[in-house]
Amino acid sequence: MEMIRDRSGFLIDKHEEYGDVFVSRALVRDLMFVRDPAVVYGINVTHWADFYKPDYIKMMRKPFLGNGLVPNYGESWKRQHKLIRPGFHKKRVDAYAATMVDFTERMLDRWKEGERKDMRVELNALALEVVADTLFDIDIGKGDSDTIRDALSDISEILVTDVDKMIPRPDWWPSAENRRKKRAIAKIEEIIGRVHQERLTNEKDRGDLFSHMVFVEDEQGRMSDKQLRDEAMTLIFAGHETTAHALTWTWYLLAKNPDKATKMREELDRVLQGRRIEVEDLSNLPYLEMVVKESLRLLPSVWAYARQAQRDLVIEGYEIKKGQTVTIGHIAMGRNPKYYDNPEEFRPERWTREFERALPRGAYTPFAGGPRVCLGKQFAMMEMRMILATLVQRVEVTIPEGFEPDFVTELSLHPGERGMPTDVHFYEDSRSR
Ligand code: HEM
Repeated sequence: MEMIRDRSGFLIDKHEEYGDVFVSRALVRDLMFVRDPAVVYGINVTHWADFYKPDYIKMMRKPFLGNGLVPNYGESWKRQHKLIRPGFHKKRVDAYAATMVDFTERMLDRWKEGERKDMRVELNALALEVVADTLFDIDIGKGDSDTIRDALSDISEILVTDVDKMIPRPDWWPSAENRRKKRAIAKIEEIIGRVHQERLTNEKDRGDLFSHMVFVEDEQGRMSDKQLRDEAMTLIFAGHETTAHALTWTWYLLAKNPDKATKMREELDRVLQGRRIEVEDLSNLPYLEMVVKESLRLLPSVWAYARQAQRDLVIEGYEIKKGQTVTIGHIAMGRNPKYYDNPEEFRPERWTREFERALPRGAYTPFAGGPRVCLGKQFAMMEMRMILATLVQRVEVTIPEGFEPDFVTELSLHPGERGMPTDVHFYEDSRSR
């Protein structure tokens, strides 16, 4: 019950109380929780093939993500991963940088001086536009954008309620929630189906990731229509809220630490001298990267991820039985004082090269690690920096005085209904760009 009330708080507090590895009984299941870097490394890297995504998560995500990359495993995952990975090649991803800035500028051009905006809503819409354009080469109109956003938000809420039920309802169960979930899924499927038909009719790779997935083949041929639908659904899901919420928290942390926001803006002014950021600039903006890394340590949007053992194992002296579910609490790892001094403090400066080199393997995994590492890691790291730089160059990073957000841990960590308000204030010299 404690875990259901406050999932990330549970991880942080219980690791403090019981140590870096503990087991807790939840009705019929024994759940193991880990924030020991060596064990995390063992699960992600050394023994990665001995784990799969937990059964109960796979079952609940099935109608939504099907057999897409996130829940998939074994030979099928290997094939799909091999087919899709070239679509995330650095050169291809770098080519998306300008689009990310374009959409951010378009959003800022819509904003008016003095109005109140909810950064959670704004950044979700922005991240969705970026995903739609770069992954599917569709400039989604407001209608499609709202449909996908509302449907994803419904699905996310229902999936988490399902996880909490401990004995999940099967998908055919005629509950109101299941009906709502099905309706939401059907709406996104309709959009994916439309784009798929369009690609097949024109038989043309337009440089976006969906085209890559439609036309890529191996000795078994092209992906089936069903697999393509599952992968597209997975990418919309995995590539949108995760980044939007990570950016929302970065906004919050910068607003609470104005000296860090100033330092970041100074670096941008020095390097860019008021011009638009380009992908080549990123290597000259180390503080910007430190800000993003620190934000993903303290308030990671993917606050935890889970695995299930396929056989009996011993990792670093810990016995893990076949079928055991293990949760890697990245948010709790980030608060581990053994590796991060004053962990509650937002201090981007800690991310020096020496610090990173000294950090044990497995102590920083906001994108998981090993072969099952987030496929969109480079994409997301670039997107966050391009968007953040463009925002910070033009508007003041603030939240209303006295405002404290909620911390809601659903599939990603987000500030809930009350959002992350900001009162728009443009810098004098930034309006004309
Ligand atoms: C800040 C943003 C992001 C964070 C924090 C993040 C984090 C993660 C994490 C922790 C996992 C592992 C989940 C698990 O094993 O259960 C994952 C998997 C994945 N992510 Fe991301 N992600 C982000 C953005 C993206 C983006 C932008 C995309 C695509 C455009 C993406 C695509 C994927 C895919 C396809 C997987 C499954 C990889 C596999 O198992 O083969 N992610 N992500």
